[in-house]
Amino acid sequence: MSNAIRIDGKAKAAELSEEITAETAELLEQHGLQPGLAVVIIGEDPASQVYVRNKGKRAEGCGFYSVQHSLDAGTSQDDVLKLIDELNNDDKIHGILVQLPLPDHLDEQTITQSISPAKDVDGFHFINIGKLTSGNTADAFVPCTPAGCMLMIEDQLGADLSGLNAVVIGRSNIVGKPMAALLLQAHATVTICHSRTRDLAGVVHEADIVIAAVGRPNMVTGSWIKPGAVVIDVGINRSEVEVDGETKSKLTGDVDYDSVSEVAKAVTPVPGGVGPMTITMLMFNTLRAARLSAGLDS
Ligand code: GUN
Repeated sequence: MSNAIRIDGKAKAAELSEEITAETAELLEQHGLQPGLAVVIIGEDPASQVYVRNKGKRAEGCGFYSVQHSLDAGTSQDDVLKLIDELNNDDKIHGILVQLPLPDHLDEQTITQSISPAKDVDGFHFINIGKLTSGNTADAFVPCTPAGCMLMIEDQLGADLSGLNAVVIGRSNIVGKPMAALLLQAHATVTICHSRTRDLAGVVHEADIVIAAVGRPNMVTGSWIKPGAVVIDVGINRSEVEVDGETKSKLTGDVDYDSVSEVAKAVTPVPGGVGPMTITMLMFNTLRAARLSAGLDS
């Protein structure tokens, strides 16, 4: 029997999007300013194509000026940097996102660091990472997935996580590391686990908050979870399944929802949990970038 609260990221994201849409309309009316988001995609990765399309659609839905630059998989690094330079200098654009992963011949670090920190709505620039990790969170662009996870954790446990153990599984720059920084800032006691961690299940069992961001379907099961923990599933694992003779793409998280929801206080589902919140936080960061560009408070 499932006792846990199903954290409805889709509903929360829809509520926040409404607020962002209303604030966008107000910004246009009062200051003649329309937030602009440029999304750059290089190559044909099918999952990235879907994400980017969704980002563009949501930006339009919020009332933003939205542009997508789709570059050929063979585009040279110089041409990518030239485009970013143009976008950095384009007054209509307040947020720039280059979809990852990049084709192998491109250098991710050079490209992400070429985006102006003031337009870095992904929060990947060293300036924004430095602000976040030095506790200057209010002044940083925070990476979208961890920012969305944090809002869902706050809904369950409040903003002050003093005395609570948080375990982050995964040490990526996009999720694991910034997630740990945010949890630390909220006074949690934070452990980051990864592929070299010994007794992962034992470490996770001590956690009041578990964030799974490893990319291994259903890895975290109910037996790993401390009763009453809050579990956030960042995993998006795609598999092909046969339904009525048709091949369909199915999404599976890193968390085995059924067994975990018998033990946990609250769990995010996949799909419908972290994913929609990530896109919403991108809109939030873009609105914020637009406001800051005009000297308005964020
Ligand atoms: N690929 C997967 N997640 C992300 C993200 O948050 N930002 C970018 N730019 N690429 C991604």
